[in-house]
Amino acid sequence: MHFHTPVMCSQVLNYIVTKKNGIYLDCTLGGGGHSIEIIKKIYPEGLLIGLDQDKEALEFARERLQDYQDRVFLIKGNFRDLKLLLQELGYKQITGILFDLGLSSHQLESKTRGFSFQEDNRLDMRMDLSKETDACFVVNNYSEKDLWELFSKYGEERFSRSIARVIVRERKKGKIKTTSQLAKIVTDVYARHKKNRWRIHPATKVFQALRIEVNNELNILKRALEEAVDVLEEQGRICIISYHSLEDRIAKHTLKDLAKQEHIVLNGYGVKILSKKPIYPSEDEVRENRRARSAKMRVAEKVFSEGVSKR
Ligand SMILES: C[S@@+](CC[C@H](N)C(=O)[O-])C[C@H]1O[C@@H](n2cnc3c(N)ncnc32)[C@H](O)[C@@H]1O
Repeated sequence: MHFHTPVMCSQVLNYIVTKKNGIYLDCTLGGGGHSIEIIKKIYPEGLLIGLDQDKEALEFARERLQDYQDRVFLIKGNFRDLKLLLQELGYKQITGILFDLGLSSHQLESKTRGFSFQEDNRLDMRMDLSKETDACFVVNNYSEKDLWELFSKYGEERFSRSIARVIVRERKKGKIKTTSQLAKIVTDVYARHKKNRWRIHPATKVFQALRIEVNNELNILKRALEEAVDVLEEQGRICIISYHSLEDRIAKHTLKDLAKQEHIVLNGYGVKILSKKPIYPSEDEVRENRRARSAKMRVAEKVFSEGVSKR
């Protein structure tokens, strides 16, 4: 089964794998595409910890990584809790950490997960299937105001008010249950605004906004990145790959804040940013893997202030 093609894999390896006997944490294991290359590079001296909130991803990656299983730990969990999860495993300091944000191709293309408007699925969009709130709940229960704020904030959708208004009108006639019902509502709103020709499908932004809301993606990101830097060892590296501007903005500003001299003096540690500008995939990679086209990578290295004990 094709699960996912890892993005900017060689750059990730070059940046975060700094020593063979290090401990590496992949916070977004997915199909294990980055993880398998990391473990190949460090096996058997090093150790890899893989984390994902999606049990299907873990099952697939477990199979894929089984030749290295004595040096691999896989955990089902949210990277929001990464510090706690590491403590439970007994690890305090990590050599390299990867966040490859968003969805895997497997999730996006799955006929049952409801992330894509290309197929007619139940409106779900939960990455963690044990959670209760799904996209169907949001669409059918949030107030009109909450919906338009959501579409504006997380989708940067210019017709958010009209779309929210039509959703509330339509759901009075009957529950909006499927991805194609929602996609049609959005497409009709665009058509009414005489936007019949589009570069990206009109429902893209609304679907992005719902996905972010259902999985609480942006609220947890800043804190998770800060915790990740906290658990890095000296000169340990963090690498973040994002696929839309809202995520990239959080990655950029969080690293910038952690790199400020005041932060370093106050907390005893911070980061040195290694990617002054975001790092992009090559043209060849984008040609071969369309998903890579929106990727941006940022990398930083942990530094301590003078005279601080480095644990
Ligand atoms: C882009 S995919 C990673 C693909 C992987 N790097 C590969 O090459 O196969 C992102 C993965 O991160 C997971 N994920 C997203 N947010 C998460 C979170 N807050 N905690 C844990 N896993 C998360 C998703 O379930 C998905 O499997």
